[in-house]
Amino acid sequence: MRRAAAGAQPERRPGKLCTLRRMTRKIFVTTALPYANGPFHIGHIMEYIQADIWVRFQRMQGHALHFVCADDAHGAPIMLKAESEGITPQQLIARIAAGRQRYLQGFHISFDHWHSTDSPENTQLSQDVYARLKSAGLIYRKSVEQFFDPLKGMFLPDRYIKGECPNCHSADQYGDACEVCSTVYAPTDLINPYSTLSGAKPVLRTSEHFFFRLSDPKCVAFLKEWLDAPGRLQAQVANKAREWLSGSGEQGLSDWDISREEPYFGIPIPDAPGKYFYVWLDAPIGYLAALKSYFESGKARANGEQRTFAEFLAAPDTEQLHFIGKDIIYFHTLFWPAMLKFAGPPYRVPDHVYAHGFITVSGEKMSKSRGTGISPLRYLELGMNAEWLRYYIGAKLNASVEDIDFNPDDFVARVNSDLVGKYVNIASRAANFITRNFGGELRYSGDTEQLAALAAAHAYQIQQAYENREFGKALRDIMALADRINHDFDARQPWVLAKDPAKSADLQDVCSRALHGFKLLTVLLTPVLPEVAARVAQQLFGLTREFRWSDAAVLPERINPYRHLLTRVDPKQLDALFESDAAPAPARTAAAAPANVTSAGVLSAGDAPGQPEISIDEFRKIDLRVARIVQAEAVAGADKLLKLTLDLGNGTRTVFAGIKSAYDPGTLQGRLTVVVANLAPRKMKFGVSQGMILAASGQTPGLFLLAPDSGATPGMRIS
Ligand code: 2FM
Ligand code: ZN
Repeated sequence: MRRAAAGAQPERRPGKLCTLRRMTRKIFVTTALPYANGPFHIGHIMEYIQADIWVRFQRMQGHALHFVCADDAHGAPIMLKAESEGITPQQLIARIAAGRQRYLQGFHISFDHWHSTDSPENTQLSQDVYARLKSAGLIYRKSVEQFFDPLKGMFLPDRYIKGECPNCHSADQYGDACEVCSTVYAPTDLINPYSTLSGAKPVLRTSEHFFFRLSDPKCVAFLKEWLDAPGRLQAQVANKAREWLSGSGEQGLSDWDISREEPYFGIPIPDAPGKYFYVWLDAPIGYLAALKSYFESGKARANGEQRTFAEFLAAPDTEQLHFIGKDIIYFHTLFWPAMLKFAGPPYRVPDHVYAHGFITVSGEKMSKSRGTGISPLRYLELGMNAEWLRYYIGAKLNASVEDIDFNPDDFVARVNSDLVGKYVNIASRAANFITRNFGGELRYSGDTEQLAALAAAHAYQIQQAYENREFGKALRDIMALADRINHDFDARQPWVLAKDPAKSADLQDVCSRALHGFKLLTVLLTPVLPEVAARVAQQLFGLTREFRWSDAAVLPERINPYRHLLTRVDPKQLDALFESDAAPAPARTAAAAPANVTSAGVLSAGDAPGQPEISIDEFRKIDLRVARIVQAEAVAGADKLLKLTLDLGNGTRTVFAGIKSAYDPGTLQGRLTVVVANLAPRKMKFGVSQGMILAASGQTPGLFLLAPDSGATPGMRIS
């Protein structure tokens, strides 16, 4: 292979001087630890794709990356969810952890290690950090008065208290803010408060809590300096954190309540029986616990790092970098650096915290706990290519904290036009001429040094964009290059040259240049399309390893016959993806499974034997109502759905139901049925579904809508 003279490039490290460096950077990278009470939603996958593109890009530069994550396992919600399922929190988190790899492998997320905050490493590190903060004089105790559920026997986090809003008097508002009038208040301000766990009236009770003295002048001084370091944080993030730090009016930063009373699923506070660290104390320490476990498992050694965990962490040239969502900036830019700073070596303060925005689906915001719109698992189960999504999300991402939007039509257009129409098209066209006419051999007429230098210049430009997390820019520039390569290829009309034996050298040159361009594009796309790139490297160019960044400026000399690389997205796949929430095929889990009531073919959990028992209180949470179908219509472009307008007695709602195979819309008009009225609205491709109707299905084909006996009227409660 011919190598360009202009090989090594100066590297610019964010926030540091631009120097000619050949040194290997040692970078410890994390993504936010997901709560262990549910599977990943599209927001998690977006964050992992962002971090993974950056990590893979750095690995291609020859740097040493240690990319870890873990389940965020502690806290009251996980404890209560496990209790409601009749299992231990450990069983719950093990079940969730067992499902993680399917997603991570499916979307090619290259974590080096996955761990849990409910681990010996995290217990040891959390207790150690706490002991050091205590020695630094930054921990104190204070009595706190809080609502206590006398039936449940536990202090109630704000989200488990509801009551009447003191401002607008709306019923059933949460303990921290009113969803109707947006007033923010303390749970003690609620009128007629009740515990959502037991229904009991909470009582005020005092207990002693531990606080981290964040308001201490040395903490404040340190944070000011940390936030001011050039290039450490996005400007928007640093400004927000500075605002919090200085506070409004005379109120500066408040001290942080880091303890919770038993019963609590968490890490015990040493020498304080019955008290546990608040989950947000041990969660970020979980980053380090994951790193420690990675070191102790031998994986770090296998990844070329011979030092111990503590040596690595304390080393001045180690970089610590966190990717997070914009909703958890407060924890990561105030509490977390302060904890690390005052815990002292080997702990180190983060070098960078990079925040991203949320992902919306067709402009609709998704809920953090529920997700909406796109189920990542459904995406994979439909056989949709993970690299389409990596490319689409990559193309939307930049270094800002802006939200990004997933738009189904835009997704189809962008993937098909860019990846298939522009990128793959080059190889599929040029390779066939080379294989047929030249036995796979590439030959360039003219100055190959210049060609390689040009490639190096392109690679350098794209390198800057990846380094700075401007992935959208990187991909735009790559596609502009693909346009130029296609244009140059077409302008020389190789299909005409192929007909004239005297033009053989010309034909070989134009196709060789196109394939060199294709190889360059593939190297530049490797962080985003790792699987396609690996196949191009191995199958087309015969490499026995994956691409490195420096391969960009090396002109290929031969190719193997072209093999299919990437299919187009079929818009029908998007329809299926968005229908998934409303209408998957009714599950048939066991041969002898009885007929069961499903949500118009949705509810598959109910037919699985061995579902955990639920209490009457849990059942009562489901608001089942009689509804009249006032209108039923087919949905253009949806095979399974009907759009129903339902009268619930107090107004109408739209519900999309997967019952098209069983019902002619004309026959439904005027019928009564049963609707789950308090199901959170779900954004689907065709609109928002505001509830769910119930139907029965069994082993034999058919779907049967539920209907109340005559006499029932819309709005009646079913119990
Ligand atoms: O907001 C969340 O989903 C938290 N589980 C993130 C924790 S990040 C880190 F601090 F562990
Ligand atoms: Zn209100």
